[in-house]
This record gives sequence, C-alpha cells and structure tokens, in this order.
Amino acid sequence: EVQAILFDLDGVITDTAEYHYLAWKKLARELGIEIDRTFNEQLKGVSRIDSLEKILAYGNRLQDFTREEKEALANKKNELYKKMITNITPADLLPGIKEFLEEVKQANLKTGIASASKNAFRVIDYLQVGDYFDIIVDAAKVEKGKPDPEIFLKGADQLGVDYCTCIGIEDAAAGIKAIKSAGMFAVGIGSRTELKEADIILSSTNELTLETILPAYKNTSA
Ligand code: G6P
Ligand code: MG
Repeated sequence: EVQAILFDLDGVITDTAEYHYLAWKKLARELGIEIDRTFNEQLKGVSRIDSLEKILAYGNRLQDFTREEKEALANKKNELYKKMITNITPADLLPGIKEFLEEVKQANLKTGIASASKNAFRVIDYLQVGDYFDIIVDAAKVEKGKPDPEIFLKGADQLGVDYCTCIGIEDAAAGIKAIKSAGMFAVGIGSRTELKEADIILSSTNELTLETILPAYKNTSA
C-alpha cells in the first residue's frame, strides 16, 4: 500500500525550472557561453554548484576559475534567480497541483518535498502551500545530489515510511534515476524520451490523479 508521496519542486509544483534556466542562461552568456533548452535538460534537478560546473565544462572553461570564483558565480546566479521568483504567487502552482494535493490529503497519504533547491522553503512560502507538506527535506543537509537517492531516502525517513511504499514525482531525468535508486515508484512529468526510466510518464501535471497513479503502482509492486 502506498503511504507517501515525495514531490520534486521545480518543474513539478511550479515552473521555477524556467527561472533557473533563464538565470543560468544570463550568467553563462556573460561568460561567453551559450546554453539552450536541450542542454538545460542536463541541469534539471542538479545542485547549484554542479550546474555551474556543467555549464563551464560545456563552454570549455572549467579550468579558468578557482573554487572561490566559482562560488561567486554560483552566488550571482542565485541572486538573479531570487529576484525572478519574488513575484511568485499561489496562482503560479502548475495546473492540477492544488487539486492533486487536496486529493492526496483526503486519501491520508503523507507528503514531502524532495528538492535539491536551497530556495525550496522560500518558494513553498510564496506559493502558500506549506500546509500541504508534512516535511521539506533541507537541501543544505543532503550530501549527494540527484541522481543519488539520498534526498528521497531522507524524505521517507523523515516521514517514517518504508521506501517501497513511496511514490516520487519528478520532471528531471536525474530525479527519476534518484527515485528508482531509492527503490520507489517513479512518476515522470514531461518528455517520454527524457524520462524513459520512470514507471509512468504524464505529459502534464494536469494528469496527476491518484486514479491514474495508484493502479500503476499496484501493478509494479504486485
Ligand atoms: C533544483 C532545480 C535545479 C537547481 C537546484 C538547486 O533541483 O531543478 O535547476 O539547480 O534545485 O537550486 P538552488 O535554488 O539551491 O540553486
Ligand atoms: Mg525538477
């Protein structure tokens, strides 16, 4: 029986994935590196500093910066990002998310946020959905980022449930890998090709209902 649902935040609850992309694109351009949406798929779910290193490597500039300089660049991106998200309101919940959260609460399932973002608490605050989540894993306390399962395992531990009773919802390939490595059922939101390792793939958050997910979960755990 399913006991808990662990949600990714950026690109699942709200479209902050877009702001992360725009902020990285601006920073990269200042460094003479052009990134596009195809490249950006590799950044989804990936920590701030790892994202920066992927961008620098992509532009063949990884060796050009010291650790301190990279930290300064990552900070700069975060300042851009924080400015972009100040206008987030409850209206920015992705389609169907509010209804799904209500449904999950009604069904007495536990809920958690498993986001690599150190801005997760702030974004949840702007969206005013804190009450829907029993826990938010603190990204600052996670050592190994997605695709490592650590953040999902921590989420389940904090909720006090077995890993195999958890469903994880993700829009990123690295996130789907993390959920699967944690021994959980993975719901992918987005592209069939990017998220092919998910147990089920939905093209939009609008399709998130327990009616679609639970039968699929039962099939794989039977
Ligand atoms: C999420 C996003 C990534 C982002 C990471 C860290 O996983 O999908 O795009 O880089 O969080 O976010 P932060 O807000 O801590 O820079
Ligand atoms: Mg995401």
